[in-house]
Amino acid sequence: MATFSRRETLLGGAGVLGALAGNALARSQSPISSGTHSPIPFGAAVRPALLGSDADYTRAILTYCNQIVAEGGFLFVDLHPQRKEFRFDEADRVSAFALANGLGLRGHTLVWYGVMPPWTEEISSAAEAERELERHIETVVSRYGSSIRSWNVVNEALRDDAKRGSDLRPLIWQRRLGADYIAIALRAARATDPSAELVLNEYDIEFVGDRFRGKRAAFCELVHTLLDQGVPLDAIGLQGHLKGDLDIDKEGLGAFVSEMRKAGLKILVTELDVVDNQLPADLRMRDVEVALRAKDFLAAIAAEAPLSALLAWGISDRFTWVPMYFKRSDGLPNRPLPLDAEYKPKPLMQIVDRVRYGV
Ligand code: XIL
Repeated sequence: MATFSRRETLLGGAGVLGALAGNALARSQSPISSGTHSPIPFGAAVRPALLGSDADYTRAILTYCNQIVAEGGFLFVDLHPQRKEFRFDEADRVSAFALANGLGLRGHTLVWYGVMPPWTEEISSAAEAERELERHIETVVSRYGSSIRSWNVVNEALRDDAKRGSDLRPLIWQRRLGADYIAIALRAARATDPSAELVLNEYDIEFVGDRFRGKRAAFCELVHTLLDQGVPLDAIGLQGHLKGDLDIDKEGLGAFVSEMRKAGLKILVTELDVVDNQLPADLRMRDVEVALRAKDFLAAIAAEAPLSALLAWGISDRFTWVPMYFKRSDGLPNRPLPLDAEYKPKPLMQIVDRVRYGV
């Protein structure tokens, strides 16, 4: 495969398949990180029900991760299913697991259009929306302050076809409050926990193509508008749901990261995985393509800014959201994550290690 050998040379020439498969990889390559010496915290999204109950899964999390984020359990719909009812049991278990094992915990997420409980549709005025949004954020952020030091405050605010910072997705807060809902959410989070890191989290920022260039520009505009208004914001979360069939726009992504850095913001990768439904069936080839895509992405970021955290959206191919949306037509299981379904490290884990340790 022509593309493959071209990409192969990008990683250092002397047979990336062999190098990726062996421990020699790290030492034979130039550093992927931008010169930080302390390791970059690495983590994964976890399924709360498996923590502590599935021994292999739990061991993998404890072996590889310094921090975790809950794949579900901290969403608005999980925590606040009825107007007058908060449910904390699942989130409490994740938080207790993190504290008991000395792991960092990221909060995902205070605001997201994805799933919202039906009661929020009854919110009928701007004043009521502001009250409910602030009440939710104050309740949740104050409860988890001892474990969660970094919050995805707003997740996926921008429309897929966004070109301007004002091209926001509809959700109840946006419909009742307009663009102000983002500032309201960030201010409520800062007021509740002044030292927690506040993050805007987005996807589809990194690929080659007009739509992605448009979304990058929109994200920059949104961020500058917020900062110009004095709204508290500390960091940008790049989800990093990469696609095996979409190239990384290294220059465009680098310029984006550099602009965010100049604006004083930190950069996190919050949900790394590589969607492999369009990649070759051959497992070895596929795993290398996955690793190289992640390498392109992480190297483009690291060239412009130190990563303050790197999290994958799961640890093992055994538990991943990818087949829900991107099943392979040949029926083979997806392999988007750093460990395979038997918890063996894949080439993607070597890329993660190189980034983590700057080797
Ligand atoms: C996915 C979860 O992994 C699934 O389990 C859930 O059913 C749907 O959402 N961006 C996000 C995540 O911010 O919350 C999404 O996670 C993946 C895309």
